[in-house]
Amino acid sequence: MAKVLLLNGSAKSNGCTATALQEMAQVFEKEGIESEIINVGNKNIRGCIACGKCEELGKCVFDDLVNEVAPKFEEADGLVVGSPVYYASPNGTILSFMDRLFYSTSFSKHLKVGAAVVSARRGGNSASFDVLNKYFSISGMPIATSTYWNQVHGFTADDVRKDLEGLQTMRNLARNMAFMIKAFADAKEKYGEPEVERSFFTSFSDGK
Ligand SMILES: Cc1cc2nc3c(=O)[nH]c(=O)nc-3n(C[C@H](O)[C@H](O)[C@H](O)COP(=O)(O)O)c2cc1C
Repeated sequence: MAKVLLLNGSAKSNGCTATALQEMAQVFEKEGIESEIINVGNKNIRGCIACGKCEELGKCVFDDLVNEVAPKFEEADGLVVGSPVYYASPNGTILSFMDRLFYSTSFSKHLKVGAAVVSARRGGNSASFDVLNKYFSISGMPIATSTYWNQVHGFTADDVRKDLEGLQTMRNLARNMAFMIKAFADAKEKYGEPEVERSFFTSFSDGK
């Protein structure tokens, strides 16, 4: 069965971001896709220290939720990252988590479907949305979209429940994501996977 992981960057496991992700999870269930919401924002997650040990160990040197989620991400067909907006950016905990999750894992993320979800009381959603989508767009992950940028508005979960368009956006997003996951599975059977070249890693003009 196809599976989607939903990361909640908020410290509140039943706050605004969680409400948006729960709306998506209900659609995944109807679509026959397994889903799991993982609370990230209530954990003590430090940032990447660029030690490069992950290349040797195959996992992050800090043995926390990042290393627990990594094998689940490898198995998953889709990843949703949700974050509250803090000063017009995703919150610090989810950024630390995403930096370390993506940097410390060498498995292919190619063709896993990604989606970013943001929650703000009032402003900074689209800037935050752009930041989160960058993890997918550098990783060969097709990005699912919806009928608006993937955002809800509120200060409390009750506010979000009143944001009917925001919740509609979440349901449409989950349906589109489910469709993409199913379509890619069929397409892989029919056409195989596109070739991915990885010979070059150019940092300087002499190629070294
Ligand atoms: C440190 C901090 C910074 C915030 N910055 C913003 C902001 O820039 N724009 C905004 O609309 N809301 C801002 N908020 C409000 C939250 O983004 C908003 O209430 C969000 O929906 C909370 O989601 P949650 O319940 O999932 O944590 C901020 C909240 C905190 C704690």
